[in-house]
Amino acid sequence: MAELIAEEKINQIRQSVDIVDVISEYIQLKKHGRNYFGLCPFHGESTPSFSVSPDKQIYHCFGCKAGGNVFSFLMEKDGLTFVEAAMKLAERANIELEIQTNVPAKSISKDFQQMLDAHDLLRKFYHHLLVNTKDGQEALEYLLKRGFTNESIEKFQIGYALPSWDYTFKLLTKKGFSIDLLEKSGLIIKRERDGNVFDRFRNRIMFPIFDRNGNTIAFSGRSLGGEDPKYLNSPETAIFNKSKIIYNYHLARSHIRKHQQAVLFEGFADVIAADRSGVVNGVATMGTSLTEEHVEILRRDCQTVTICYDADHAGIEASYRAGNMLTAAGSNVFVAVMPEGLDPDDYIKQFGEEKFFHDVIGASITFMSFKLLYYRRGKNLQHEGERLLYIEEVLKEISKLEKAVERDHYLRQIANEFSLSLDALLQQLQSYSGGKPENQLKKQKGSNQPVLIRKQIDQLKPAYYNAERHLIAHMLKSSEVAFKVQQLLQGNTFNIDEHQAIFTYLLGFYEEGNQPDPSLFLNFVQDERLRRIITEIEMMLVNEELAEKELSDYIKQVLNHQKMLKIKEKEAERTEAERQRDFLKAAAIAMEIIQLRKSL
Ligand code: CTP
Ligand code: MN
Repeated sequence: MAELIAEEKINQIRQSVDIVDVISEYIQLKKHGRNYFGLCPFHGESTPSFSVSPDKQIYHCFGCKAGGNVFSFLMEKDGLTFVEAAMKLAERANIELEIQTNVPAKSISKDFQQMLDAHDLLRKFYHHLLVNTKDGQEALEYLLKRGFTNESIEKFQIGYALPSWDYTFKLLTKKGFSIDLLEKSGLIIKRERDGNVFDRFRNRIMFPIFDRNGNTIAFSGRSLGGEDPKYLNSPETAIFNKSKIIYNYHLARSHIRKHQQAVLFEGFADVIAADRSGVVNGVATMGTSLTEEHVEILRRDCQTVTICYDADHAGIEASYRAGNMLTAAGSNVFVAVMPEGLDPDDYIKQFGEEKFFHDVIGASITFMSFKLLYYRRGKNLQHEGERLLYIEEVLKEISKLEKAVERDHYLRQIANEFSLSLDALLQQLQSYSGGKPENQLKKQKGSNQPVLIRKQIDQLKPAYYNAERHLIAHMLKSSEVAFKVQQLLQGNTFNIDEHQAIFTYLLGFYEEGNQPDPSLFLNFVQDERLRRIITEIEMMLVNEELAEKELSDYIKQVLNHQKMLKIKEKEAERTEAERQRDFLKAAAIAMEIIQLRKSL
């Protein structure tokens, strides 16, 4: 949480500001019973479903499920980091904070700081060469001819490295950087044969790469002519980790958080071109394919990722891969599709910024719709066998969708296109999903679903789901209840992963000696998805006290579901034993099933 601000300070801030006052500066709130209500600032709506609890010092939107405490409100609304939000609130409450805005220098080693300094100095120098000197004129003309504007050259701090073997080396050593450090930074190369050193980047257009705090940590140099390699990147160093770094994150992050959406490009030239068209939340990986680390960073900061890779074979395959990774992590994925063979930069050059913004990014399709196109490639759907294969492939994908309404939507689309009955498709679909109720009933994520549909889904929640939520609601109010539940579960877990995660956090929170406090607990939970669920549960109406009977009923429902799954498993085993005419085994399993049923 707050590595840079002391825990007591955070608490002091929390206790001296009132969430109702803070949020009132953004929207109009009206009191209604114990809580305040207003129009949600996170999604468009005309009837208020956004509520603020002064008792609990939290907010929650029943429409889009946004929720959190006063810190997360500012983080989400203004796109601030936790520390920035704390600073803003401290100022409001007249609390002195002794922190540095950037990474504190003492926490990073001297080498580390020097590497950053060398990069920073070079960035300024390269940029100066490009925009102000005759040496950089050819490079500047090349960029302008390619459609780069002076604004984007400034904004992305693009520069130029001279066609010299040792200019950078001389400059930096004169400034006091050691050869050893420069080599470690990847800025110079030491030749093994004779120990001679020379500049890594020569006669290249220089794109600085920033970390999320805006420090320059690496460069990518593009050759001017057709010289190979087209892009030369800094090597991995102590300050540059390609599998974690996301290009343009320092500028895009606040927009990404605010709009809960990121646009993911293949190359940084695309990010820069798209920025001109108004896509300020564009990012790219650095010459590597998307890693789990990248996925995790994006998932933390937004709900939706729109993939906009090159429209060539490699780009389409990479979109499929990236889409699956992002979906698996819980992100909402869209894909922006362009005419075959183009990359976003080309598209903008050909059709203009306006058209890119509206017809490509604005017209992006769901990941499922992308998959419908993806599986079509290379198939002749006039051919019966290929058509059936296609239908099977896409049905498998449809069966993986979490939301019933979505499954229905795509099934109808397939039924229409191939003149098949919806019933036949549904049957086929069930054979893939195994009819798992969890699949259909899992907590819905995402904010663009109409409230009405969500309500219907909520009514379909199974008993164990509601039982787990009620238990959490009571555990949030009392540490005693929490420890009691832990005991009663006897090592079993909640059926819903998110519920189990919240339970685990809560036990940790109480074990550290904290008292029940909804707003404080939210600071403790890093995961935004969990925070949303917690505020949703906080807003549930539950009895003040938890009676023994109510408690044991809930526990029973949680445990029964696990037994039901076990019974289903056993029943399948019994059927299999009967099929193999192993009646003795079948009878033994039948006895087990009876015992299990009795224990329900
Ligand atoms: N890349 C790289 N090394 C290369 C080629 C590409 O690191 N030799 C990375 C760069 O990050 C680049 C991305 O892969 O931004 C996409 O490559 P490509 O599509 O070839 O580049 P473009 O973005 O189209 O660049 P340009 O328009 O300048 O040709
Ligand atoms: Mn290109």
